[in-house]
Amino acid sequence: MTIKKAVIPAAGFGTRFLPASKAVPKELLPIVDKPTIQYIAEEAIDTGITQVILVTGREKGSIEDHFDISFELEHHLRSKGKNDLLKIVQEISEMVQIVSIRQKMPLGLGHAILCAKQIVGDHPFAVLLADDIVDATPPCLRQMIDVYNKLGKGIILAIKEVPREEVYQYGIIDGELIEDRLYTVNSLIEKPSVEESPSNLAVIGRYLLPPEIFEVLEGLPPGKGGEIQLTDAIARLGETYPVYGYRFRGERFDAGDKMGFFIANVKFGLKHPELGPRISEFILKTAEEIQKGYETH
Ligand code: G1P
Repeated sequence: MTIKKAVIPAAGFGTRFLPASKAVPKELLPIVDKPTIQYIAEEAIDTGITQVILVTGREKGSIEDHFDISFELEHHLRSKGKNDLLKIVQEISEMVQIVSIRQKMPLGLGHAILCAKQIVGDHPFAVLLADDIVDATPPCLRQMIDVYNKLGKGIILAIKEVPREEVYQYGIIDGELIEDRLYTVNSLIEKPSVEESPSNLAVIGRYLLPPEIFEVLEGLPPGKGGEIQLTDAIARLGETYPVYGYRFRGERFDAGDKMGFFIANVKFGLKHPELGPRISEFILKTAEEIQKGYETH
């Protein structure tokens, strides 16, 4: 059965992004001219997902508004003859069916996914974390679904090699390479120390999960950081269910981190059809000035 539903958790406080995220959900901070969450929604849509389930929290209503029809704005743009902008605004609300549900308490990523249980129903589904932007053709999620369709069953995790000293920021797998880019996962651990980490293969925020994960999540005690961890639920289900890690093709940006967010802005800025050439010129000029500064000091 092909995967048609995707859950995007977007309930976190975004503390890594303060003060910018105090009153604006971090998922709406723009990379060049589009909110981060729109890149994620577009990846899901380009993959063939037909329903996106947003798990939001308090003060996150503006994320729903972003994907909704904005009657006043459309009316304003139409009356001013700003048809290009009207088209952009309308396309967002026509993108895909968006359903949203609230996570009432910040109990962790695993708990956020559990909140989507009723809407997901009894089908395998995808999870995309809004902090992880992946620039890839075909989209990262599409690559994973192709692997899933070939295998016919199983949990698929997007993985990426990270520097050993960064393993404590990720879920890390203990896996065995079985074919090009594909690993069987024997175990996984959330945010291990460098010493206890079984490898440097990190889980990046894309998952294909079976509905059985909900039962596991329901009985799961809090893990790392006192939160109900999706990683722990996958590790537990993995005792009786096949789990694979797929080393996707593409470049990943950590848009939940200030530096990662900045880098994403530069990289996507350079590719932007209108702004790209000017951004490139600006960067080259700035680099020259920096170089001159070094030479005169
Ligand atoms: C989450 C997951 C972690 C994963 C990471 C990818 O952590 O819990 O296993 O490696 O996303 O970005 P977070 O970054 O939300 O703390």
